[in-house]
Amino acid sequence: MINIVLFGPPGSGKGTQAQNLITKFNLKQISTGDLFRFNIKNDTELGKQAKSYIDKGELVPDKVTIDMLIDEVKKPTDAAGFIFDGFPRTAEQTEALETIVKEHLNSEISICLALIVEDEILVERLLKRGETSGRTDDSNVEIIRNRIKEYYAKTAEVAELYKRQGKYVEVNGVGEINEISEKLYAEIEKLAPPKGKY
Ligand code: C5P
Ligand code: MG
Repeated sequence: MINIVLFGPPGSGKGTQAQNLITKFNLKQISTGDLFRFNIKNDTELGKQAKSYIDKGELVPDKVTIDMLIDEVKKPTDAAGFIFDGFPRTAEQTEALETIVKEHLNSEISICLALIVEDEILVERLLKRGETSGRTDDSNVEIIRNRIKEYYAKTAEVAELYKRQGKYVEVNGVGEINEISEKLYAEIEKLAPPKGKY
């Protein structure tokens, strides 16, 4: 299995790159942000719990997010592995993911790929996406800045945890989408031999 943590601040291109990576390596994408939005749209109990945090650009409490992720990982799939997009976002989520991947998939995180983009470009990108995404948290510059603030306060330390395990790789997230994908592919292809999986 290949299990990738796709890491980076909001607007760094995680979702966009995940689309290319799932096709290239036959992976299943789990985007916790997308799962929350699906639940909000369908007015589920989980959606109700998450909405107030997301609308302010804050992180949803770890337990809620982790339980949601476990449910998703348990679903049967014939993919060759997973891309975790937007998760983990805290140290606690990072530890939980390690356990979940071990217990439910009998595997481990292969690599944490971090997309590096400077803050002002993030704000620009998110405001632009807000013109069409219909996302409440993309439409207001204060909320966007709060999301970036949450990233530095709670999420950036996740990088340190993967660095310590020698699993952390940074890729420049500014440029042509396909050029960035190629750089990500190259990092993944450096991992353990494919054994006919992809
Ligand atoms: O990943 P994405 O940017 O789509 O996430 C949107 C929002 O969902 C975040 O700003 C946050 O409020 C919430 N979220 C979270 N914890 C995660 C992933 C997303 O609280 N692990
Ligand atoms: Mg996303």
